[in-house]
Amino acid sequence: MCGIIGYVGKRIADRVLIDGLKKLEYRGYDSAGISVFRDNKIELFRKVGKIINLETELAEKGLNSRIGIGHTRWATHGKPTEKNAHPHISHSKKIVVVHNGIIENYQQLKKKLPASYKFISETDTEIIAHLLEYYYIKLKKDKNISTQNKYLLAMQKTISQLKGSFAIVIMFSDNQKEIFAVKKDSPLLLGIGINEMFITSDITAILSYTNRSINLEDGDFIVISKNKYKIFDKDGKETNRKINIAQIDTNVTEKSGYKHFMLKEIHEQPQIIEDIILTKINRENNEINFRDLNLSKKDINNISRVIILACGTSYHAGLIGKFLIEDLAQIPCEVDVASEFRYRSHNRVIDKDCFVIAISQSGETADTIASFNEIKKLKPKNLMICNVINSTLTKKADNVIYTRCGTEIGVASTKAFTSQLCILFLVSLFLGRQRNILNDKRYNEIICELLKIPQKMKNTIDSITPVMEYWGKHFYQKNSFLYLGRNINYPIALEGALKLKEISYIHAEGYPAGEMKHGPIALIDENMPVLTIATESNVYEKVASNVEEARARNGKMLVIATEGNKIIKNIADFVCFVPKTLDILSPIINIIPLQFLAYFIAEMRGCDIDQPRNLAKSVTVE
Ligand code: G6P
Repeated sequence: MCGIIGYVGKRIADRVLIDGLKKLEYRGYDSAGISVFRDNKIELFRKVGKIINLETELAEKGLNSRIGIGHTRWATHGKPTEKNAHPHISHSKKIVVVHNGIIENYQQLKKKLPASYKFISETDTEIIAHLLEYYYIKLKKDKNISTQNKYLLAMQKTISQLKGSFAIVIMFSDNQKEIFAVKKDSPLLLGIGINEMFITSDITAILSYTNRSINLEDGDFIVISKNKYKIFDKDGKETNRKINIAQIDTNVTEKSGYKHFMLKEIHEQPQIIEDIILTKINRENNEINFRDLNLSKKDINNISRVIILACGTSYHAGLIGKFLIEDLAQIPCEVDVASEFRYRSHNRVIDKDCFVIAISQSGETADTIASFNEIKKLKPKNLMICNVINSTLTKKADNVIYTRCGTEIGVASTKAFTSQLCILFLVSLFLGRQRNILNDKRYNEIICELLKIPQKMKNTIDSITPVMEYWGKHFYQKNSFLYLGRNINYPIALEGALKLKEISYIHAEGYPAGEMKHGPIALIDENMPVLTIATESNVYEKVASNVEEARARNGKMLVIATEGNKIIKNIADFVCFVPKTLDILSPIINIIPLQFLAYFIAEMRGCDIDQPRNLAKSVTVE
């Protein structure tokens, strides 16, 4: 979603800003802009579409400013047009701002300003620039306040009016040395270089310049100049925050020979899963080791119910988590889409013996944060499964397990999903073991099979790639797909359909196979590809019957089946074989062909695979 970068220092600012904005492209955006000083005046440069459009325009300008702010915008209020793109400038062009988040009361605030304040954009952000200027002009007249305090006071007064979430970065036209910023419920961090300072919403933007950063806290006000930074807490008191040293993994932002990040990330999965398994399982006694999980055996035995909260692909992982927790730990589990959960009334049904698991790749998804805030008021035990270290959600949770799958750049989530599945599997096993649900024999059989999963994932990738490439060529012109699965593979049908929608823009629906006859069957004819996950399980025969039902309506039957299934060819038009494993582990393998299928279809259709239209990697607004 939107991205912010601010720079002050020894380098030419527009180059640093463009470079940073390019690193933020993966988050999803539809316009971009920067603001720098030229001839002692603030100038705006904004373009709709890709950053390259902005870069091309700037190349001819010969700008020389050493200070500037930049933004990638993902439209919420107002279409993606140049006027709506950030930065936004105030009424008399004294103040320029970039903003992530949403100002909920911007319409009401507009009415409070004098009529002479003209609004140029349709955004909720522009009000911030005008309000800042309104207060700043008033404060400027007061001889008793120092200039620096005038900036901070104008910010404080403005912020006190705003409802919503924000990370705001500001430049004042009468100050070419400093950048100001403030944040609430939207990530912002300070980058500390040598003779240069940065401010950004995502560390990826500045990692090629510095690995020293400070995560800012809600209510913090920040001032940065070339050699100095100051942080004031929400009460205006100057404060210190911990400096983090990021591990720079140059591999992260490189495609390493793959055509797309998504393809690279699909291929990384076996290694990631192997790393998770080997760090969490003690090979001497096969016990699972969650050092950071602060739950006693008694706590675990007292868990009455598990509630999983997540959005998007993480929600699909949660749906699989429900099967695992109910099977392996025998605890009732419900899974909720965070945006739905946050507005329901739960007080009556949630108690302290509930165990809440929030799942989020980014740790910044607004709905997941809000639903987690809601549920935490009721003081249940809780756990966050997250990929991004120190992200907002990780700070709110009592327990955090990191998926550690590395930065995921492709907007369509792949490796984050399988790593979430692996962690959920281990958590379920751990809970089951602690509750004495799993006897040694079953437990060891499961661990033994789990240890084989990375190699089976590798084999799957090798064997199915050409098959999926062939399917892709065959089906890329279709308008609609139906994905069917049952039990633990029903969420895989949902996730497979989501991948196809996200990157190829083909309509795809995931459905529980047994439910097909209650509606979707009406859609099936010779033009409808029906992809069914029919790997070996206790419901295999049932799924095979569903395949027959769809075939009887002339659907094109594409089936994911277990190696060695000799009869599936009799009822399927196309079969893709995957290695045999336990049903409870099958989702982690079965998703791989579906990721590849979406990829190859999108490639055949010439889609922008890593940055699909309208989507954002991390959805920081409601
Ligand atoms: C966006 C992304 C999805 C992701 C979802 C939830 O929609 O495009 O890939 O699954 O947000 O994100 P989270 O970071 O909370 O897992």
